[in-house]
Amino acid sequence: MYNNYYCDKVVLITGGGSGIGRGLSQKLAIAGATVICTDIDRDKAAQTVSLISNKKAVALKLDVTMSDDFETVVEGIVKQYSRLDLIFNNAGIAVSGEIRDIAIADWKKIIDINFMGVLYGSQTAYKYMLQQGSGQIVNIASAAGLVDYLALMAPYSVTKHAVVNYTKLLRFEAKTLGIKVSVVCPGFISTSIGKNAVAPNANQSWNEKAVNDVAAGIPVDAAVDNILKGVAANKEIIIFPFQAKAVYLFARLFTGLYKLGVQKMVNNYRENYRLK
Ligand SMILES: NC(=O)c1ccc[n+]([C@@H]2O[C@H](COP(=O)([O-])OP(=O)(O)OC[C@H]3O[C@@H](n4cnc5c(N)ncnc54)[C@H](O)[C@@H]3O)[C@@H](O)[C@H]2O)c1
Repeated sequence: MYNNYYCDKVVLITGGGSGIGRGLSQKLAIAGATVICTDIDRDKAAQTVSLISNKKAVALKLDVTMSDDFETVVEGIVKQYSRLDLIFNNAGIAVSGEIRDIAIADWKKIIDINFMGVLYGSQTAYKYMLQQGSGQIVNIASAAGLVDYLALMAPYSVTKHAVVNYTKLLRFEAKTLGIKVSVVCPGFISTSIGKNAVAPNANQSWNEKAVNDVAAGIPVDAAVDNILKGVAANKEIIIFPFQAKAVYLFARLFTGLYKLGVQKMVNNYRENYRLK
């Protein structure tokens, strides 16, 4: 389907110790790419690499909130492999709840990881890719970066909108300079992100609901196939599954109705999940 496209490419992945990053690392290694699998938790990245039997992957620590980490890792990759073909800026977290309950510290944390992490990764890779005259930058946003009025997920939605807009602008500028750029906007995928979500003023059952929503998402395997297919085709925005496209279109075409649905969700949250 896309295997030849990735064969012999040198690929850097952030947040590779779990979920989508782990799935990308595994499939890319199988497709013949050399995978530099990184995570803030090096042990988790090493676990991912241990699942890859063809020795096409290495694990490194990279905290996406530290621009120096990107400089060190990318410089090391270019020194060792003479190039960097692809970067997947994938690491991300979720924060949920009403805006009035979310502390500035939680906003800063999610902005640092979800947006600044993508910015540092893109800018660093772009610099090296411009020197080599080729390369591809892939930023993992979310359908939450396309759909407006996503109440109860404001910090997540705001950071993902920023990633979408930044990536579209980068693609526009990079197009004539030989660098490809794509943004990935999935709906729910079954990973640990729901379990790890920060929900500052919600009761336990809200966290369970978040876990169940994500758990009901599509399997990582299918998500990774969608991503790798879209990237190989150099799509600007890679959106899947069908439900994510449907919500996006519905919210744009029938905004009034969509907002009524969101208001119902907020009322339900206030009645049943928000701590007083
Ligand atoms: N799972 C979904 O439903 C879904 C939907 C749309 C978009 N996404 C996006 O996909 C990406 C991957 O999410 P996932 O679902 O695989 O989550 P996950 O929680 O399974 O994996 C995230 C990984 O990022 C790592 N990480 C966290 N902070 C980091 C930091 N500062 N530096 C480096 N690594 C860090 C974690 O250790 C973890 O290994 C995220 O950007 C997320 O927003 C997920």
